[in-house]
Amino acid sequence: MATLRFAGAPGVNTPALLATGLTKAFGALVAVRDVSLNIAAGERRAIIGTNGAGKSTLFNLVAGDFRPSSGTLELFGQDVTPLPAFQRTRLGISRTYQTSRVLSGLSVLDNLYLAVRGVQSRRFSVRLPRETDACRMRSRALAASVGLATRVDALANELSHGEQRQLEIGMALAGEPRLLLLDEPAAGLSPAERPMLTRMLRELPRDMTMVLIEHDMQVALQVADRVTVMNEGAVVFDGSPQEAAASPLVELLYLGKAGRDHAAANQGA
Ligand SMILES: Nc1ncnc2c1ncn2[C@@H]1O[C@H](COP(=O)(O)OP(=O)(O)OP(=O)(O)O)[C@@H](O)[C@H]1O
Ligand SMILES: [Mg+2]
Repeated sequence: MATLRFAGAPGVNTPALLATGLTKAFGALVAVRDVSLNIAAGERRAIIGTNGAGKSTLFNLVAGDFRPSSGTLELFGQDVTPLPAFQRTRLGISRTYQTSRVLSGLSVLDNLYLAVRGVQSRRFSVRLPRETDACRMRSRALAASVGLATRVDALANELSHGEQRQLEIGMALAGEPRLLLLDEPAAGLSPAERPMLTRMLRELPRDMTMVLIEHDMQVALQVADRVTVMNEGAVVFDGSPQEAAASPLVELLYLGKAGRDHAAANQGA
């Protein structure tokens, strides 16, 4: 479906992300095994799989936090395999992590401001400038784009879990990325918070490529154009969300006992 939508548009033949035979071993453990992926510019891709399937390790390979043991990675047509993370960030990659990185003692606006300024948390000692500052206005716009317009003055540790996730995504959007990687954005959210997050993700700019690791099939179905399933480091399924939902293999691997256990663990997180 996504392929048809992008066919014919300018630059479509250059994928946003092209992984070829990507492998990452930690000693004897092969966390990512010969993974090849082709994600079109503007596509929204969900990556699902049970605990330890290699999803976050794959993100670390894409973001440049890990070097692959073998294989290559192209982003927007450029071979980035040897490039460190900061150079990939310059190419327009941004990501969230499975564990929160917001500064809990600062307000929503200040967290976004620091993200906009690209200030590292450890070096934070700046005086916050006046409201008219362009970065401040950009921070407010970001807050609005992730549904936090009325919460800008709240401290991050006063936010609900769902709002914290929204803030993390807002911070990841600060650099106007071309490729956004979201590691389990719905993890730990209550059933009531999930539709809000889903709506927010759907409303993000369509020209931004988005790859999200997601265990909640409802979120994946509603947000993603395509679903990739990983198991024991390898890609074992690639198809539309509807095909994934109907696949006996996905049912066995993901919606079976292991998948339910993972979902239950996340609910309690
Ligand atoms: N830095 C590391 N050193 C050694 N082993 C690692 C490292 N990072 C991940 N692993 C191992 O690689 C495998 C894949 O882990 P990964 O975190 O990528 O899985 P995941 O699919 O993200 O799982 P989850 O759903 O629990 O987040 C696991 O066996 C994990 O223990
Ligand atoms: Mg993970």
